Amino acid sequence: MFANDLLKNKRILITGGGTGLGRAMAERFLQLGATVYICGRRLEVVQKTATELSAATGGTIEGFACDVRYPEDVEALIEKLWSSGPLDVLVNNAAGNFLAKTEELSPHAFDAVIGIVLKGSINMTLACGRRWLASQHKGVVLSITTTYADTGSAYVVPSAVAKAGVAALTRSLAIEWGGRGVRFVAIAPGAIRTEGAFSRLLPTPELEKALLDHNPLHRFGTLEEIGNLAAFLVSDHAGYINGEMVYMDGGEMLAGSSSFSMIGRRLPDSAWQIMKPKK
Ligand code: HXC
Ligand code: NAP
Repeated sequence: MFANDLLKNKRILITGGGTGLGRAMAERFLQLGATVYICGRRLEVVQKTATELSAATGGTIEGFACDVRYPEDVEALIEKLWSSGPLDVLVNNAAGNFLAKTEELSPHAFDAVIGIVLKGSINMTLACGRRWLASQHKGVVLSITTTYADTGSAYVVPSAVAKAGVAALTRSLAIEWGGRGVRFVAIAPGAIRTEGAFSRLLPTPELEKALLDHNPLHRFGTLEEIGNLAAFLVSDHAGYINGEMVYMDGGEMLAGSSSFSMIGRRLPDSAWQIMKPKK
């Protein structure tokens, strides 16, 4: 199935593609023949990743600065990309998240996460979707959610409400736009080691162990696993999969998905102090 030309002739944009899961998906898509565009707020990060992945795979990849929270930023990037032809796939991967007691969160803290995850996904999806519909060009939107998108989770509430919104966006537009050639899928990953996620959400060995103990497979997911699943879902082989959110979590969701709910019983107040932003 993963023939080297699986994604040949596909032009794919990955938000947050400079690091972590986004970078891993970019690498796999390049290996399978796609032309890849990545964006993030930090231009130097996406450009460095593009240079490294181009050297490693021989594929075509370009990095752009774009803050997905702002429709004008998104519109400018999408217009620029479309000027050399339509995209075929959008991956909504950019995110923000942190562990916190909800009653202590400021309005800005909620805005920061919901702005990136939910509004960012809406901005990107509309900018690409309107163009696909107008030109009757087929498109695929893959959004990366989390195991707690359907159930919610304590201590990551801005992320939980935003990811639930992204799941709703996926399922709603799968119906509204599916018949007009735009297909929607999502992946709900369990924990996969990345600097961005682990530094903010699993900052101690005790928390890592708690999550591993809870997971039926007693291990984290891998970058290769998400790269392969994403490649399949955006490929033509998955053409009849629409509106589906695939759990890639070793069974964690079935075991009780609200990943961070267990930490309230385990974390002393001193640990909460450490996780607060430094003023
Ligand atoms: C409480 C916090 C906080 C924390 C930030 N804030 N961190 N509040 N606890 N730990 C508050 C700040 O005080 C501020 O509010 C507001 O949030 C915005 O913070 P800024 O630093 O100004 O925001 P910004 O620079 O936009 O950064 C956004 C961010 C940051 C989300 C806060 O973490 C970020 O850039 N993240 C991007 C990468 C990321 O998060 N990756 C992990 C994804 S993993 P005030 O009121 O003080 O101004 C994931 C799923 C993992 O999503 C699942 C694993 C199993
Ligand atoms: P990550 O490395 O921190 O990735 C987040 C990316 O989003 C960064 O490259 C960041 O780049 C970008 N980003 C943040 N705000 C942005 C904005 N406003 N505009 C554009 N880009 C922005 O974390 P990750 O672990 O790879 O997470 C990737 C995705 O997987 C996220 O959707 C996350 O929720 C999901 N996920 C991860 C795990 C896990 O265990 N790793 C589990 C479940 C779900 P800049 O800072 O340069 O903007």
